[in-house]
Amino acid sequence: MEKIRVMTVFGTRPEGIKMAPIVKAMEDVEEIENIVCVTAQHREMLDQVLDIFKIKPDYDLDIFKPGQSLTEITTKGLEGLEEIIIKTKPDLLLVQGDTTTVFAGALAAFYQKVKVGHVEAGLRSGNIYSPYPEEANRKLTGIVTNYHFAPTNESRENLLKEGYPEEKIFITGNTVIDALFHVVKENYVFKDELLNNIDFENKRVILLTSHRRENIGSPMENIFNAVDEITKKYDDVEVVFPVHLNPKVRNIANKVFDGNNNVHLIEPLDYEPFTNLMAKAHIVVTDSGGLQEEAPSLGKPVLVVRKETERPEGISAGTARLVGTIKENIFNELDLLLSSENEYNNMANAVNPYGDGKASQRIVQIILEQFK
Ligand code: UD1
Ligand code: UDP
Repeated sequence: MEKIRVMTVFGTRPEGIKMAPIVKAMEDVEEIENIVCVTAQHREMLDQVLDIFKIKPDYDLDIFKPGQSLTEITTKGLEGLEEIIIKTKPDLLLVQGDTTTVFAGALAAFYQKVKVGHVEAGLRSGNIYSPYPEEANRKLTGIVTNYHFAPTNESRENLLKEGYPEEKIFITGNTVIDALFHVVKENYVFKDELLNNIDFENKRVILLTSHRRENIGSPMENIFNAVDEITKKYDDVEVVFPVHLNPKVRNIANKVFDGNNNVHLIEPLDYEPFTNLMAKAHIVVTDSGGLQEEAPSLGKPVLVVRKETERPEGISAGTARLVGTIKENIFNELDLLLSSENEYNNMANAVNPYGDGKASQRIVQIILEQFK
């Protein structure tokens, strides 16, 4: 029997987390030959994910270089992938999400006339510069995609509006929920001493993350200043911020939070402690895409510190609020959640607009049906 040769391509932390359940699901399927290729657009942050999910890539382009430009990531990814695609001749190349690796992967496949499956297809903010360059990456990838795996009905609708054929769009849920279900545990004990020493019973912990390119500069300073000021108003509030490895983010964080003992700046956490920290946190403040999906599932109010979001489902469900990047607005929204039990409880609903934890199984089934 000829196997279906499926090559997964990913390069950053969130793509790894969301692609891992699909790679794992395909490992158990006899009809599929699993070829894993990482660009390693991220290095340490990707390796953390590969370790946790025990994935050993067949190919590692190792393109990471600190501070490299979008052009460098794209061209190195394209060149490296061309060679591997010609050598391995996959029937299908899977990419996930909206990073530059996704765009390069989809384009490299298209150039070799290899079919493309896009996981997490159809998310749209409507503004090509926000998130930047992700909104464009996702749209550009869509153009060369043969199978659109849309996580929600809204994302399917976006694709239909852009004229993509109905029979090539599949609602699957988001694989981030599949991954999350594997790692969040009751009574989780951290290995990290700082986290273990936090009194989650008596302190209200804000989990903060921020890394978006369009926020770097004064928007990010505003976000951090708002959080800094809120810790000065409330004695029982502590902040944990696993800081992205981007030095531009680190510089702003170090500057704004300097001397504030209630804000813990820590290294990026492995996925398991990170999600368990979110499960114990009181509020999430973030510009991350993935966190907007995970927080509703864990019933955590999430303040999205961005001007636009391509993930409106959490907002409709009431768990997420788009609060922009103006300091006073972020401070006021935090203040409201910390001072009004009613406001807090209205947002702290465990809802799952992004999936039921079976997205990866669905995607594998669709692949089997389409290639039989
Ligand atoms: C990338 C994605 C973004 C995604 C994010 C997830 C693009 C354009 N952006 O943004 O969509 O939300 O990943 O985190 O694809 N760095 C390290 N080690 C690492 C990773 C990053 O040192 O393991 C530092 C480097 O200095 C690097 C910088 O972070 O230059 C930025 O990395 P890059 O991949 O260019 O963009 P991200 O902001 O991480
Ligand atoms: N995450 C992690 N450790 C951290 C911060 C985030 O494992 O210290 C996980 C998080 O649970 C989510 C993903 O990384 O699944 C989000 O990545 P990021 O915010 O970097 O990218 P985005 O989702 O915005 O593309």
